[in-house]
Amino acid sequence: MARRKRSALLPLRIAGTGAFLPAKTLTNEDLARFLDTSDEWIRTRTGIRLRHVLAEGEVPAQMGVAAAGRALAMAGKSAAEVDLLLAATNVPEEPIPGTAPHLAAGLGLKKAPFLDVTAGCAGFLYALALAGAWLRAGLARTALVVGTEAPSRFVDWSDRATCVLFGDGAGAVVLERSAGGSGILGLALRGDPAKLHLLRIEAGGVRLPASGATVQAKKHYLQMEGKGLFRAAVGMMAEATRAAAAQAGLSLQDIDWVIPHQANLRIIEALTKRLGLPEGRVVVNIDRVANTSTASIPIALDELVRAGKVEGGQILALTAFGAGASYGTVILRW
Ligand SMILES: CC(C)(COP(=O)(O)OP(=O)(O)OC[C@H]1O[C@@H](n2cnc3c(N)ncnc32)[C@H](O)[C@@H]1OP(=O)(O)O)[C@@H](O)C(=O)NCCC(=O)NCCS
Repeated sequence: MARRKRSALLPLRIAGTGAFLPAKTLTNEDLARFLDTSDEWIRTRTGIRLRHVLAEGEVPAQMGVAAAGRALAMAGKSAAEVDLLLAATNVPEEPIPGTAPHLAAGLGLKKAPFLDVTAGCAGFLYALALAGAWLRAGLARTALVVGTEAPSRFVDWSDRATCVLFGDGAGAVVLERSAGGSGILGLALRGDPAKLHLLRIEAGGVRLPASGATVQAKKHYLQMEGKGLFRAAVGMMAEATRAAAAQAGLSLQDIDWVIPHQANLRIIEALTKRLGLPEGRVVVNIDRVANTSTASIPIALDELVRAGKVEGGQILALTAFGAGASYGTVILRW
């Protein structure tokens, strides 16, 4: 078959996957106790029933370390073998030095290079591609890519239009070089800065440093134009998926599993319809985890892998969109 012949653009093997969700949960009914909302509104508009949130004192790096530990265990590797660590995250553990050093410390890494990758909710895909290029260049043998995010710490819990959508979590993959045919076959990563205004946190950076006035104006919280994002999301992910499949020399029918960013069930359903994909091949877990941003794709991937559903040689399409607007699709052969 043609799909087995083409060699990978970025050869790699996903040797292990892992995920972590905080123990504390909030149901829609829990939210309705302090917000003017309802389980019915949230479920019918978004598909979400439940989200996990960090407890007081817990931090994103702890989630990342737990997810990475599970991925390393599946890969049969120790943290000492990791020679590249990428942390996909949007709001870091602290502004300087970000999340990756805290993750590295938690994992006990000594000298491996680490960096944060910030590309909205598509950040995990950017990090995956970057790690693939790093491996391909011979700069590392074992890369750890972690998506970890705690939106519960940067949403306004009095803003029903945003806070109900998000949840905290982390997902990780261990990558190694591959001599076989597995790896990234097609890659369409894109940016559209004309959509930059759709999703942002305005204050707390250099443009608008933290002050009493910015806190009063609630500018440290996530602001979103929900309708604009909804409209843009389906088109962006559909275009990128078609482009990545074409680059891989595949048709959409060759794809065994599509793992879309879990932002809204209605967006996923519209994408499924737009691309003409069979529903059973599109992975959905948003009902139980909500939108975990950079962690959303690796958490869904880990669930799929641990359910024994992914077989060697299968084709996966991972697609996401988010702040920036950054978006894109990665097509890989398992
Ligand atoms: C946010 C989203 C669910 C809103 O759904 P929608 O159908 O567009 O709803 P609207 O924004 O038109 O709001 C409709 C009404 O519901 C109200 N509403 C908003 N949130 C509500 C909530 N949690 N509970 C009850 N009512 C709510 C609004 O105030 C509005 O009321 P009004 O008509 O009296 O003004 C949807 O736009 C969306 O998912 N967008 C994409 C967001 C996203 O993916 N963000 C992350 C990107 S990584």
